[in-house]
Amino acid sequence: MNREDIEHGIRADRGLFIVMEGPDGSGKSTQIELLSEYLSGLGKSCLITREPGGTEIGEQIRQVILNPDNKAMSEVTEMLLYAAARAQLMKEKIIPALESGHVVLSDRFLDSSLVYQGIARGLGIDTVRSVNGLGIGEYSPDLVFFLDLPEEEGIRRKKGQKQLDRMEQESLDFHHMVAEGYRQILQDRSDVVRIDAAASVEEIQQQIRDCIEKSLGEG
Ligand code: TYD
Repeated sequence: MNREDIEHGIRADRGLFIVMEGPDGSGKSTQIELLSEYLSGLGKSCLITREPGGTEIGEQIRQVILNPDNKAMSEVTEMLLYAAARAQLMKEKIIPALESGHVVLSDRFLDSSLVYQGIARGLGIDTVRSVNGLGIGEYSPDLVFFLDLPEEEGIRRKKGQKQLDRMEQESLDFHHMVAEGYRQILQDRSDVVRIDAAASVEEIQQQIRDCIEKSLGEG
């Protein structure tokens, strides 16, 4: 992690933009909830959001994307729908929150599209990045926590919880490409902190808090 990058996020007079990434079942939402409790305790005002979704329009798009009946959906349609939900979320929620100095905690962001659509669906990282650029503009996360988990374990955890959605029903090969894709695009990136998601909820949360404390200049 690059200290200057983090300080840049703070100096820019914007709120901190924190993203949780990882394969299905890696425990992102649990960690975001715990993190928001911690940050609220520090007196920080947080916006929690998730992708796809997070706005009224985005949640409608989410239904279309994840509906297991939509088996005929093309890869390009899928990419555009994720990008559309994200563009709405940026405009309606994330940009206003960052500009008002709030901390934004997002369950997934652009890296999910780069990995799932760019790599696993084979559309290419550059294509996906440029399509998404329309909605994201100049904004980028200050910190990305990558909860790394073997794909079999992620899907096993999901199966125990609920009926699988359209993406979760994809083959194990697909989920394998996702897991490898994450490792490929996130390694060596200065804004990314990799965490072993096989550790306990408490251990993972502690690692996340330690990083955030440093980035807030309180560590
Ligand atoms: P999510 O609700 O985060 O599911 P989970 O709790 O299983 O992590 O995401 C829904 C699914 O959408 C998930 O399988 C990942 C996929 N996805 C993409 O393929 N591209 C994207 O850009 C995003 C944000 C999610």
